[in-house]
Amino acid sequence: EVMKEISGLKILEAGITEKLGISKVVVVPGDSDQSPWVKKELGRACVTTMRDRFHQDNIIAVAGGTTVSSVAEMMTPDAKNRNLLFVPARGGLGEKVQNQANTICATMAEKASGNYRLLHIPDSLSHESYQSMKEEPSIKEVISLIKDSSMVIHGIGDAKTMAERRKTAPENMNKIESSHAVAEAFGYYFNSAGEVVHKVQTVGMQLADLEKIECVIAVAGGASKARAIQAYLKKAPHTILITDEGAAKELIRE
Ligand code: BG6
Repeated sequence: EVMKEISGLKILEAGITEKLGISKVVVVPGDSDQSPWVKKELGRACVTTMRDRFHQDNIIAVAGGTTVSSVAEMMTPDAKNRNLLFVPARGGLGEKVQNQANTICATMAEKASGNYRLLHIPDSLSHESYQSMKEEPSIKEVISLIKDSSMVIHGIGDAKTMAERRKTAPENMNKIESSHAVAEAFGYYFNSAGEVVHKVQTVGMQLADLEKIECVIAVAGGASKARAIQAYLKKAPHTILITDEGAAKELIRE
């Protein structure tokens, strides 16, 4: 029975790798929309994938969200004692404290017995304050660490769910809806072709920076995210995807 289940997941992994044209997919059993424990499995699988790709020195940028938060919960100290420095991928995006990249970054670093640096910058700033904040030496230093990161861990969300969760202002809400956004990742919103239709203004990692990062891991599960995962990955082929059976089965069907 167990063997049958494992080979079923391997078949799903191979099918999705081909369908999405990405290099690596890991599928864990279950559907995180239905069962909360599946998020822990996503977290565990992500930690394993991270460890396989660590070097002696690592800068790991982490995005926010409940899924990346469960990656942090499953993190343990590195058996090989490698250097792990964690940074938030981007500044605030309007999320609750427990879903913010800063919070998750600190938790992950503590569980890994690693180090961390945070971005202390408010979520919504006027254009002028934003421009001057970016020039603050302490912020600049963290931004340059982020741009030098060797690994990025981020979630993928359904566009509407994310826009609502972040209490997006009405004019941006309209923009997100009228441009048919279906996916969201680290504050960028994408249409079904994987094109950016809206972005939340904040410091740190920008979409174009991702291309230069050696290891990018997206962790997202649940059948309800299948459409978002598919859209986002159209323009992000060097991403490693950690997902669950619920999303995987839906992805294969579509
Ligand atoms: C946000 C991240 O905080 O969470 C996004 O910035 C991600 O990258 C989103 O799409 C997903 O959240 P969750 O809770 O569904 O994992």
